[in-house]
Amino acid sequence: MEPSGSVSFVVNGQPVSVSSRHPHLLSALRDELDITSPKDGCSPSGQCGCCTVLIDGKAVVSCQQPLTKVAGTNVTTLEGVDESERARFAEAFAACGGLQCGYCIPGIIVRAKAQIDKKGDKLEKSDMARHLGAHLCRCTGYVKILDAIETVARREVPTPTPTGGIGSRSVKYEAHELALGDRGYVDDIRVPGMLHAALHLTQHARAEVLGIDTSRALAHPGVVAVHTAADIPGDLRVGIIYKDWPVMIPVGGFTSYAGDVLAIVVAQDRIAAREAAALVDVKYRTLKPITDPAIAIGSDEIAVWGTDNNVLSNSSYARGDVDTALAASAHAVVETFSTQRIEHAFLEPESTLAVPSSRDGRRHLHVYSGGQGIWDDRNDIARVLGTDAEHVTVELITNGGAFGGKEDMSNQAHASLSAWLLDAPVKCTLSREESLRMHAKRHPITMTYEAGCDAEGRLTALRVRAIGDSGAYASVGMKVLERMAGHASGPYEVPNIDVEAIAARTNNPVCGAFRGFGANQAQFAMEGVLDRLAEKVGISGWEIRKKNVIRPGRVWGPGQVMDDGCLGAEVCLDAIKTEYDSARSQGKAVGVGLGLKNSGLGNGFKEITKAVVRFNGGGDIEVRHGWTEMGQGINTVALQVAVEELGVDPDRVRVIVDTTRELGLGQTTGSRGTLMGAGAVKAACEAARAAGCAPDVDHVGEYRVDWTTKLGEPGVEHPIIHSTFGYAAQLVIADPQSGRIERVVAAHDVGRAVNPTLCEGQIEGSVHMGLGYALTEDFPSDPETGFPTNMTLRSLGIIRAKDVPKIDVILVESPQPNSPYGIKGVGEIGLVPTAGAVAAALHQFDGQWRNRLPMNANDGDQDE
Ligand code: FES
Ligand code: FES
Repeated sequence: MEPSGSVSFVVNGQPVSVSSRHPHLLSALRDELDITSPKDGCSPSGQCGCCTVLIDGKAVVSCQQPLTKVAGTNVTTLEGVDESERARFAEAFAACGGLQCGYCIPGIIVRAKAQIDKKGDKLEKSDMARHLGAHLCRCTGYVKILDAIETVARREVPTPTPTGGIGSRSVKYEAHELALGDRGYVDDIRVPGMLHAALHLTQHARAEVLGIDTSRALAHPGVVAVHTAADIPGDLRVGIIYKDWPVMIPVGGFTSYAGDVLAIVVAQDRIAAREAAALVDVKYRTLKPITDPAIAIGSDEIAVWGTDNNVLSNSSYARGDVDTALAASAHAVVETFSTQRIEHAFLEPESTLAVPSSRDGRRHLHVYSGGQGIWDDRNDIARVLGTDAEHVTVELITNGGAFGGKEDMSNQAHASLSAWLLDAPVKCTLSREESLRMHAKRHPITMTYEAGCDAEGRLTALRVRAIGDSGAYASVGMKVLERMAGHASGPYEVPNIDVEAIAARTNNPVCGAFRGFGANQAQFAMEGVLDRLAEKVGISGWEIRKKNVIRPGRVWGPGQVMDDGCLGAEVCLDAIKTEYDSARSQGKAVGVGLGLKNSGLGNGFKEITKAVVRFNGGGDIEVRHGWTEMGQGINTVALQVAVEELGVDPDRVRVIVDTTRELGLGQTTGSRGTLMGAGAVKAACEAARAAGCAPDVDHVGEYRVDWTTKLGEPGVEHPIIHSTFGYAAQLVIADPQSGRIERVVAAHDVGRAVNPTLCEGQIEGSVHMGLGYALTEDFPSDPETGFPTNMTLRSLGIIRAKDVPKIDVILVESPQPNSPYGIKGVGEIGLVPTAGAVAAALHQFDGQWRNRLPMNANDGDQDE
């Protein structure tokens, strides 16, 4: 007989009985049965597919299954699949490069298994793509996922390439464990005595907090404590650049955006914590949020509590005489472009586990984090706790995607605070909705471009005025607008230029880092004016780019004299020419985009990173670095560099993300990981060789870029804004009847492809992201409330597998002088040219120019 309050069913062949309190099967599997291959990307909404399991042989999303429906059934998770079948899938995903962060993969494998069980080798890719409609992958663009599934269906799983040196298609580090969901993310970690925290977020984007009543929450069964800002022993505010972001809003303070936290509820389990968090009563005096950035920068009314100006930053520079050059130009255009706010939609919501201990009689806190900047996090956590940084260790756990969205702290300080106050381990995992509300987004930017060219189509002048909506807190918003300004002219030579880009503070969602970092917005606009000028001149989009592309020795944008690294821009353009001509001759609607994006931080920032190589007595070799692995493959790069430099058996090498040694890194951002990580590991290997590979000592290597110049630095005619740039040309081919995008050809200059398979995967994933940016994705907020209006994954408009066009990648290797192996980085440039190329293709389709993102085939005439 069923014991009361419990539900019985069979999991992986074992009869189980779980509490009926769980809101769905996923909760019972993960939180009670400790089965963690089904991941939680969006529960209970059933929109990401990460939690897919088999119930009586049928693939279902377990976060949508109430336990009453599961009673008496047979549930199979990936852990319960036959070992040889598991191995086949893991091998296929590893060999085909079918995974990056891996978070979505276990669910996809379960779905694929169900389909292969049904259709065997008759399973077609297009069929499988349709079935992947229930799944999201934010990293891969699905191309290599579908390749991997096809090889399993046909029983043709290729043998993975053994790990080799630079240029080898080595299997991604830990690919097998990631594919099967065996390599834990933060929320998969359990420690004895662990408590669960849930956050109470504000109901108003701009309001004075008059009172916080925690009594109902405290009385809820299972609740251990409720913490508010009054409990913070140290500093209230944190932030990567400015310390302006309150960990919680105290009574007497003001909320400034929809993600502000009022209270942390800690309970024995996740369910109780979440239930009680809803019971915190807050009294507000509401104020009208300031949500229009153009109004904000001219207003005396301060939008954000604790700040004294709604202008976060102003980035500007000028060269030559724009007015005179425009007046003398054969053709000129003035256009205003606007881009939308975009959500990262990494599949793994933010999670932090903080574990207190005592070391030598002193308190210590060990924090497990999936963030992109463990050192910044450690320092800020210590400040909040009012203790020294040496009492806090932040251990990086490979995360399930980030794309820039995990640079700022989200819940790290909250979990740490509660753990510190209670002297007990506390885990805090955000729900999808909390994640959407809290972390920084891609900036919406409004840009007016005024550009001229001569009768042949050579650019003469460019003036740009831009306002970006940075939302409430600084994050790295000022740097995004600085990068937007620096990249305003795209990869072209413009003799006269005048650029100003303002970051405004508003009560909208915070905006910060996101793959492309301001370059995407700028180059959507630049490509738009270039195509209009081409039409006026009477030449093709390809030709005008060829005429103006930046070349070595020429002066680029903010005055930088470009080195031989910039040869890659023209090589990429040439690489797509045959396909461009052929598509045009077939009468296709065709658009081409050309882009550049810096790697590293530049702008005068001193970037110094270290790595350690250690030969242990036992025979293994440790390679230690401090970069965040978020799917991009930095661990694989480190391994390949070590194999290249030391000529050792890769099985002897262990790559360790080291958070105990001071390796001096900063954020894993701006494609820095591959460039600087490879540089530091290479230097460490050289140091090891010079020391005869002495055992049991740290061989330390360093990579340093400390010679760049700040944008707009007075008196510097030719500043070196950045040490390195990546370049890409993308060709978008659309059906001339329907406007549907059929194919994208992406030629990317990565300098040197350390691992071509991983590079292709990065590019396919970014083309997928770029098409979403161009056509369908949006994260708007309500101008009346400042609250985001798309609060589910489905509403974000991310393109599903069946709608991804064919993507052909051309890897270009035009080396960067003075960088390790000529590396330029690949992650950031990924979607820079995509939106411009889509706009040009759609213009060919229906004759309409498009100035606003997102656009679609039927949404022309946006010029007003
Ligand atoms: S967690 Fe169940 S579908 Fe996303
Ligand atoms: S590999 Fe699919 S979400 Fe990262």
